Amino acid sequence: MKIITGLIIIVSGAMIGCTVSKNVLFVDQLDLTQMESGWGENHINKSVDGNPLKIAGKTYERGIGTHAVSKFLINTGGTAVSFDALAGVDDENSKPGTVEFKILGDRKVLWSSGIMKQGDAAKSIHVSLKGIKKMAMLVTDGGDNINYDHADWINPRITYSQTAPMVSSVIQKEYYILTPVNNKPRINGASVVGANPNHDFIFRVPVTGKPPLKVSVKGLPSGLLYDSGNRSISGKAPAKGAYEFLVTAENAEGSVSKKITIRTDKGLSLTPPLGWNSWNCWGLSVDQKKVKAAADAMVSSGLADHGWTYINIDDGWEASERTMEGELLANEKFPDMKVLTNYVHSLGLKSGIYSSPGPQTCGGFQGSYQNELSDARTWAKWGIDYVKYDWCSYGQIAIDQSLPELKKPYELMRKMLDQADRDIVYSLCQYGMGKVWEWGAEVGGNLWRTTGDITDSWNSMAGIGFAQSKSSAFAKPGNWNDPDMLVVGQVGWGPSLHPSKLTPDEQYTHISLWALLASPLLIGCDMTQMDAFTLNLLTNDEVLEINQDALGKQAGLISEKDGIQIWMKPLSDGTMAVGVFNIGTADGTESFNWDDQPNAKKVTVTAEELALKTKFKVRDAWRQTDLGEFTGSFETNVPFHGVMLYRIITQ
Ligand code: GAL
Repeated sequence: MKIITGLIIIVSGAMIGCTVSKNVLFVDQLDLTQMESGWGENHINKSVDGNPLKIAGKTYERGIGTHAVSKFLINTGGTAVSFDALAGVDDENSKPGTVEFKILGDRKVLWSSGIMKQGDAAKSIHVSLKGIKKMAMLVTDGGDNINYDHADWINPRITYSQTAPMVSSVIQKEYYILTPVNNKPRINGASVVGANPNHDFIFRVPVTGKPPLKVSVKGLPSGLLYDSGNRSISGKAPAKGAYEFLVTAENAEGSVSKKITIRTDKGLSLTPPLGWNSWNCWGLSVDQKKVKAAADAMVSSGLADHGWTYINIDDGWEASERTMEGELLANEKFPDMKVLTNYVHSLGLKSGIYSSPGPQTCGGFQGSYQNELSDARTWAKWGIDYVKYDWCSYGQIAIDQSLPELKKPYELMRKMLDQADRDIVYSLCQYGMGKVWEWGAEVGGNLWRTTGDITDSWNSMAGIGFAQSKSSAFAKPGNWNDPDMLVVGQVGWGPSLHPSKLTPDEQYTHISLWALLASPLLIGCDMTQMDAFTLNLLTNDEVLEINQDALGKQAGLISEKDGIQIWMKPLSDGTMAVGVFNIGTADGTESFNWDDQPNAKKVTVTAEELALKTKFKVRDAWRQTDLGEFTGSFETNVPFHGVMLYRIITQ
C-alpha cells in the first residue's frame, strides 16, 4: 500500500498560480489501485478512456477519470477538515451517460450531486469532514445502468487543520481463509467424464492428501491406460456406453476409493469445464511462455489435484496471414502450437483455443470466416480440446439479429468440429444475444456466454451473477450457461496486473455463486502469482463438488428480501446446496465497510423456503464443518457482500 508523506506542494490545473498548502492531500496521491470502477481502468489526470478530462466543454488538468459504479473509501481518521472537488460526466462518450456523485462519511450521505448527465457543468463540492473517521467517494449509475457512465472527479482533495497526516487509501481488508487443510486422501472432481467413442482420451485423476500418496486405478476399459507419473488416464475412448472404474488413494492417514464413470454415449462436458483462460489476466499480450507457465502452475499449485483441467488461450495468438492453402497459423508469440499442446497433455491437462466466426476476432486478429472446416481441422491436428468461438466481427456478415442469423455461424462450426475427429468442447461466445440459453444446446454448444464481459468490480460480478435466474432451466449435463470467467487473484487484461478489486467477502460470493450456478469455472488470473487466499478460494473440494455435481442442475433464486438472496441447487445425492447472500440494498452507504468488522446481517433460513418438511442437517461448505440438526429454521450471520454456503441434508 502506498503511504503518503506529509509535505505536499503541488500546483494543480484549475488552481494555477496558487501553491497548495501542506495541509492538503490530493486523492490522486493515494493508492488508486483499490478504487473500484464499474468498467475500464481509473486514470489520474485522464478520463477512463485515457483522454484529457473534459466536462461540458471545459478541460481540466488534474483529477481522476473513473466509471460508474465507482467506489473509494479513505481513512480520514477524524482529523480532516473538509473535502473539495468538482465532479461531472466526461464529454468523451458519443452516447450520454447519467450518474450521481456522492460523498459519504461514517455511514451517512454528506453530499450528493443529484442526477447528472453528459453536458452538465461540473458541480462544485465542499463538504465538512470534521469528526469523520472514514469518508467515501461514490459514483452511482444514476438509477439506470452503467452504460456510458464516464465520470470525472476534478482536483479531489482533503484539507487538514495541520500537515496532512499519513493516511491509508483503503481500509485494510482481511483476506481470511476458510478452506481447511485436508491431510486425508480425497478423490476430487466429477464422478462422470464424457467422451466420444474412439477419440483420443485424456483424464487426470484429481487426488489430494498428505504425501506420500499412492493412487491406483482398476477396471479401466480396454484401450485406456493409467500412468502413475502424471496421474493420467489416456488412450482411445471405448465404444458407446458407460464404463465405471475405481480409483483408490492411500496415505499414512487412511485409504479412500471412488467410482468414476466414463460415458461415451452422452457427449462432452457432462459437468462444467474447470480450467484457466488467458483473457482476464493477459488480454492480447498472451504468449506461449505465459501459457506454458500457466500449465506448470496449475500442476505445481495443486489446482490440477482438485480437478482443474483446461489451459485455454484466448484472443491474440493468431497470425495475420494464412498459408497459400488457407491454413490458419499462429503468430510469432506462439512458435509451435503442436509442441505447446503436447506439453499441456503431458501434464494430464487439456488445451483450449479461441476464434471468431467473423473475418476478424474482437482483438482484430484473423477469424475463421469462410475457413471453418480448415480451422477445425487445424485445431484437431494441434491437439486442441476446447474452442471458444466469439461473435466479434460476424456482426458485419449477419444480415440482421434474427434467430436464424444468430444461430447460423455456430451451427456451421459445429458441423466442422464434428468432422474434425477429435473431442473438442464447443464454447459459444456472443454475450447472450437472442437468449442463447434457449438454443445453445440445439446448435451443439457445450456452453454459451449469457452476458457481456465481466470485470473485477462488485457491480459487474454481482450484476451478472445474480441475474442468472433467466437461464437456470436450460443448464444440464453437456450444456452450461456461462456467466464469464473468474475475476479473483491477479487480473488485469494484460500486460500489467493488479489484485482483484473484489473484497474478500465479494470473492467468496463470486466463487460460491458460480459453483451454485453450475457455471464453467475458468480462472482468469496469473496462476504463477496466486497467494494463499486465492488458492483457498479455488481449492475447496466441497465447494467444487457443488459445481461438479453430476445431476447438472443450475441453482435458482428461492428467496429475496431486505438485501438477502437465497439460491438453491439440488444435488445428485438428494441433498441440496444453499447459498445465503448479503447483497445489500440500493443505498450507497451500505457499499462500504465502515467498521473494522465487515457489516453482517442476521438471517433466518426457514424450512419452508427450502421446501423441507422434515428435520435437516446443515453443513458449512467453506469451513467443511457440520452445524447440527434443525427443524423449522436455522440462523446465520452473513457478511456484507458475502455469503454462507451450505449443504442441506434431509433424513
Ligand atoms: C470478447 C469476449 C472476451 C474475450 C475478448 C477477446 O468479445 O467476450 O471474453 O474473448 O473478446 O478479444
